[in-house]
Amino acid sequence: MSKILVTGGTGYIGSHTVVELHNAGYTPVIIDNLSNSNIQILDQIEKIIGIRPEFHQFDLCNEAKVKAFVQENPAISGIIHFAASKAVGESVEKPLKYYHNNFFSLINLLNAYQGKNINFVFSSSCTVYGEPDSLPVTESAPVKKAASPYGNTKQIAEEILEETAGAYNNYNFIALRYFNPVGAHASALIGELPIGVPQNLLPFITQTAIGKREKLTVFGGDYDTPDGSCIRDYIHVVDLAKAHVAAIRLLEKGNPNGGYDVFNVGTGNGYSVLEAIAAFEKASGQKLNYVVGPRREGDIIQVWGDVTKSSEQLGWRAELGIDEMMASAWAWEKYLKENPIG
Ligand code: WQD
Repeated sequence: MSKILVTGGTGYIGSHTVVELHNAGYTPVIIDNLSNSNIQILDQIEKIIGIRPEFHQFDLCNEAKVKAFVQENPAISGIIHFAASKAVGESVEKPLKYYHNNFFSLINLLNAYQGKNINFVFSSSCTVYGEPDSLPVTESAPVKKAASPYGNTKQIAEEILEETAGAYNNYNFIALRYFNPVGAHASALIGELPIGVPQNLLPFITQTAIGKREKLTVFGGDYDTPDGSCIRDYIHVVDLAKAHVAAIRLLEKGNPNGGYDVFNVGTGNGYSVLEAIAAFEKASGQKLNYVVGPRREGDIIQVWGDVTKSSEQLGWRAELGIDEMMASAWAWEKYLKENPIG
């Protein structure tokens, strides 16, 4: 079975992708430095797929270790690269940490594969679009000036891949631009595991509902949207994981768009914060304690994806709706209450 390297494979999206790779007949191999995830996730993955994935713990910023790993693992035919720092707010406070971690890890990987044929799926983000001029946003929309160092690392990384593909013929890249990943595996054995106070909406909602947080603050109710709150394209993390398997398959077939291509990975539907809260209350049966407060600096007002290209060329579409996103997120939060991880 083809061996696929999953960097950041004990993280939120990485762990779900490890499960879907196994389900699709691949052998996932994980590298993770556990800086933003927990080793117990390996046990959880094993409970789901019945085997413990091969795991290597080291930092991809260590060039010698990356080179040694690549030399010792010639059977790896593809890479899905999740490992990166990804907190928007933290990136504003610590830009050098973000530029160092996100670029050194990527460039060490690319350098280690010079001259070797490799299929490479990159974890990018809709954040590269900024506030789109028109909606839904397509892959050909202009990339706007990044609103954070985190977003800038995604934009520059995409340029690195495109220029690397143009200069060398051994790399085959796909960048997946995620919208807002939410939810958890149906087993409720893996899910989002924020460290400290959650920055993202869904874990803050579920932690409020379970009683870990006193209340949720909706960041802004006076935007130019139907109900005044921001709109996002929330996508179930399992659908997102399956998009990575589809990307590996496309690269194995020889991606028709040459050495570098990019796809939106969303549902094509936008939900406001207040609609997301209502959907959570309906799916969980829990009344949520929230207030509408001031806007959060740097928030995009509304963004949702045009997913035509992904459907027609990647051969993938999201299948799970907002109810399953909310129900699975709530089931995971309840699991964590009885089975704390970390
Ligand atoms: C969603 C909406 C908030 C928390 C970021 C990154 C993106 C990706 C996902 C990594 C916004 C509102 C949130 C809260 C709120 N990250 N909100 N109260 O900012 O759309 O995207 O995370 O890949 O790249 O940019 O996600 O979940 O933080 O916010 O009202 O306590 O929920 O204002 O409108 P965001 P988010």
